[in-house]
Amino acid sequence: ITLIPNNSLLTNTPEEGRQLAVKMARLIIKMTQPDAEVRDRLRPTYAEDASMLIAIGQVVATEFATIAKANDYWK
Ligand code: HEM
Repeated sequence: ITLIPNNSLLTNTPEEGRQLAVKMARLIIKMTQPDAEVRDRLRPTYAEDASMLIAIGQVVATEFATIAKANDYWK
């Protein structure tokens, strides 16, 4: 499984960087649980759980922080 699309953390805009952060967060879920049927089954569980959704926000924020740094904060 490809964990970093295009093998690069560089993006043109912060928006694209944030999209990449979401993608990277999702890819690690796919790697840790390759069974799509199981992921489908678990989806409603996290979708209805505020704490799990906040945890997802944290994961994406961590990925985004790395990506932003790699892009020199798009300065
Ligand atoms: C859907 C992000 C964790 C299973 C989605 C969507 C997003 C997302 C943005 C909506 C996609 C859309 O409707 O276009 C994330 C992030 C995660 C995470 C950032 C963790 C950091 C998980 C976990 C599971 C899971 C733990 C199950 C093990 C799914 C499934 C869908 C989904 C099955 C529905 C896909 C579809 O409708 O085609 N996720 N998710 N996700 N997620 Fe997650």
